[in-house]
Amino acid sequence: MIAPSILAADFARLADEAAAVSGADWLHVDIMDAHFVPNLTIGLPVVQSLRKATELPLDCHLMIDEPDRWAIGYAEAGAVNVSIHAEAAEDPRRIARDVRAAGALAGLAVDRDTALEPYLDLLPDFDTVLVMTIKAGFGGQDFIPALLDKVRLARRHSSSGHLRLHVEVDGGIDDQTIVAAAEAGADVFVAGTAVYAADDPGKAVEALRARARAVMDPT
Ligand code: DX5
Ligand code: ZN
Repeated sequence: MIAPSILAADFARLADEAAAVSGADWLHVDIMDAHFVPNLTIGLPVVQSLRKATELPLDCHLMIDEPDRWAIGYAEAGAVNVSIHAEAAEDPRRIARDVRAAGALAGLAVDRDTALEPYLDLLPDFDTVLVMTIKAGFGGQDFIPALLDKVRLARRHSSSGHLRLHVEVDGGIDDQTIVAAAEAGADVFVAGTAVYAADDPGKAVEALRARARAVMDPT
């Protein structure tokens, strides 16, 4: 699945920017609070409005403190997936339970400097693992190949445990790096700059999908 990140879009024209990628699978929405990360973006009211402005499933990535308090609101607002950061959550299992009960998939995100091993036991409670391939906070950074070890680990772990788990990569994904991420076992690819800095964002989504598909289904 290709999930364009509206962090790289024009925030004054979000409905149009969503329409420009109508062939995408999810629309990735970065929620930042200037505490968990230094940057500040949007919150629940914008997600509620966006829900009415596009039919694309909304993939909410919460880079915020106190996800225990806020995550459920995004699920209730109709997000398809709500990812919280392992570093910020007090009780990730309870958040996952609440998010799922509200009808969304539950995602567990790990930032650049966070190992995945301590969280493997939590994965049966989650639907998505979001592996940051940059340091969370800003778009337009360079992809860090070494972080794909976490993607490999997540994919190995989910296969051996018979879990149905999306492994999502976020940060620096373009038509080159998506190949390495797909080879490592990712199946959801977030792309901000590579989509919205392109002349035709819709075509950029198709090009990314073709690159990932060539790895995942070479026939
Ligand atoms: C950064 C965000 C990403 C960001 C990726 O913390 O989580 O979703 O939009 O942007 P690019 O694709 O430009 O690296
Ligand atoms: Zn993100």
